[in-house]
Amino acid sequence: MNIVIFGPPGAGKGTQSNLIVKKFRLHQLSTGELLRKEIRNNTKLGQEISSIINLGNLVSDNIVGDLIENYISNKIFKNRLIFDGYPRNLEQAKNLENLLKKYNQKIDLVLKLSVSLETIKNRIIERKFLEKRVDDNQEIAIKRYETYENNIKPVIEFYKQSNLLKVVNGEATIAEINDEISGLIEGIKGWLWEIRQYKYARNNNS
Ligand code: AP5
Ligand code: MG
Repeated sequence: MNIVIFGPPGAGKGTQSNLIVKKFRLHQLSTGELLRKEIRNNTKLGQEISSIINLGNLVSDNIVGDLIENYISNKIFKNRLIFDGYPRNLEQAKNLENLLKKYNQKIDLVLKLSVSLETIKNRIIERKFLEKRVDDNQEIAIKRYETYENNIKPVIEFYKQSNLLKVVNGEATIAEINDEISGLIEGIKGWLWEIRQYKYARNNNS
């Protein structure tokens, strides 16, 4: 199964993806993390995108599209991806649909984590001391929130039409949200069979 999780900065996308990948043997694909890795490694791409990320703007659709295709095309991750922070606009949502079709896959569940701007500000300020992300300050957090709000409505409509969208209250505790998401995943037809197949393949390869 493939899952999309989206929501504003600090909504808990990373936190929840992390818990889900362990429980359901999935692979987390955080476009933000992939981009930050390019910056940390000082690659040509990293140099190109660092100012965009540091200002809270979106990196170009082509750049992130190429990054995610590397994973979607990889057999190891086939039907085992959780897309954390992708798509962020309608173009990306359509691109994801096309890429998954190209590699004979589909999305099974789309999760939207809803949180208020007040909560976001508090969480980002707290996290700043832990992760030291350059884009974690109040001003840029608000900018990231605005970028999210300005682009996400057509994405929501897109997934509403395909009946895949589930809205989750991101203000609840981490454990409560995890329980709710786990229940939604367990409602996907064939989820247990997929995990068993994955474990079987892994045991026979080792
Ligand atoms: P990205 O890295 O995705 O950042 P973001 O969307 O701003 O989201 P965050 O990672 O800040 O928050 P999160 O929702 O993961 O929350 P978390 O679990 O950490 O993207 C960064 C940048 O990369 C973008 O601005 C853009 O420039 C670029 N980019 C990325 N994807 C792109 C794309 N597709 N296209 C173009 N550009 C792209 O939680 C936050 C904190 O709150 C943590 O400390 C956590 O412990 C705490 N917390 C979480 N849940 C709870 C809870 N329920 N209760 C209390 N505390 C909680
Ligand atoms: Mg994150």
